[in-house]
Amino acid sequence: MAVTIKDIAKLANVSITTVSRVINNKTEGVSEETRNRILQLVKELGYQPNAIARGLVTKKTKTVGLIIPDISNPFFPDIARGVEDSAHIYGYNVFLCNTDDNLEKESEYINALKEKYVDGIIFTSSSIPKHEHITDLIKSGIPVVIMDRRIDSEDIYGVFLDNYEGGYIATKYLIDLGHKRIGCITGPLYISNAIERLEGYKRALVDNEIEVDNRLIFEGDYKINSGIIGAEKLLEHEVTAIFASNDLMAYGAYKAIRSYGYKIPDDISVVGFDDIQLSQILEPQLTTIRQPAYDMGLAAARMLIKLVEGKKLKKKIINFRPQLIIRQSTKNIG
Ligand code: RIB
Repeated sequence: MAVTIKDIAKLANVSITTVSRVINNKTEGVSEETRNRILQLVKELGYQPNAIARGLVTKKTKTVGLIIPDISNPFFPDIARGVEDSAHIYGYNVFLCNTDDNLEKESEYINALKEKYVDGIIFTSSSIPKHEHITDLIKSGIPVVIMDRRIDSEDIYGVFLDNYEGGYIATKYLIDLGHKRIGCITGPLYISNAIERLEGYKRALVDNEIEVDNRLIFEGDYKINSGIIGAEKLLEHEVTAIFASNDLMAYGAYKAIRSYGYKIPDDISVVGFDDIQLSQILEPQLTTIRQPAYDMGLAAARMLIKLVEGKKLKKKIINFRPQLIIRQSTKNIG
């Protein structure tokens, strides 16, 4: 039978409140002798505070949930590392939930985290921006920070990247290298950041008097294979450069380009998006748009914990800037 806080209090001849205060290091008004007696009993009897019981009393479990859509994509572990490091500083544990881009799982995890009385949730949606279970979550009153993928809800706290700017600077860079037939492999176009990157691509073309040719736009799904299929389609339309809306699809494009007998960047230039670790050891190293995933994770956890603890927030939305990282997969053909 597990030792309870009541057992400790009885043996130490103090109240349960006193034991709880000593365990939580709130010892003002408790004598040194009493404090040491309690801590000695805790150690000897192997008392382990019951987090759920404590949560029911304090209404806090010092845990947060992080819901991500694809743990197999290295971008998300970078986010998770930032969330975990930041939460740890504030004394919070993190429950990581991977939804595999599956709406049902997304909904199940939201309910599971509610049942575990997490204090708040950081959420990257895999679903269409308006899906009702997200709206319900926002309305439920649990502190929520949306990150990475905007949703159609006004009253949210969020941490995002300026994806439009990212798509724009990637395309503008290729135009400045003399490319005019630039293909774009997008992410799933029900996801806000995929739409934003595509809009940035289109705007850069229009600003440089290059016609937007829809035959040079292929809708991918942020996974490697769609980069292979997309690049094959774009090569048939004689592109000289490909902007892939994430690095994994750029890796797929590499495979397709080489299977067609072309060289990177001699024949085809490639730009990715995310700057996950592999991109700098690829041959040739990938030119890409960097998302500060770790810092975004740190910021999202900081924002959420301030919300949980009722602290004032200067901003409801934090927007990070993209950064063009020029490596070896692009060539000047001007
Ligand atoms: O690589 C996966 C993509 O989905 C990233 O670009 C990130 O923004 C996430 O939304």
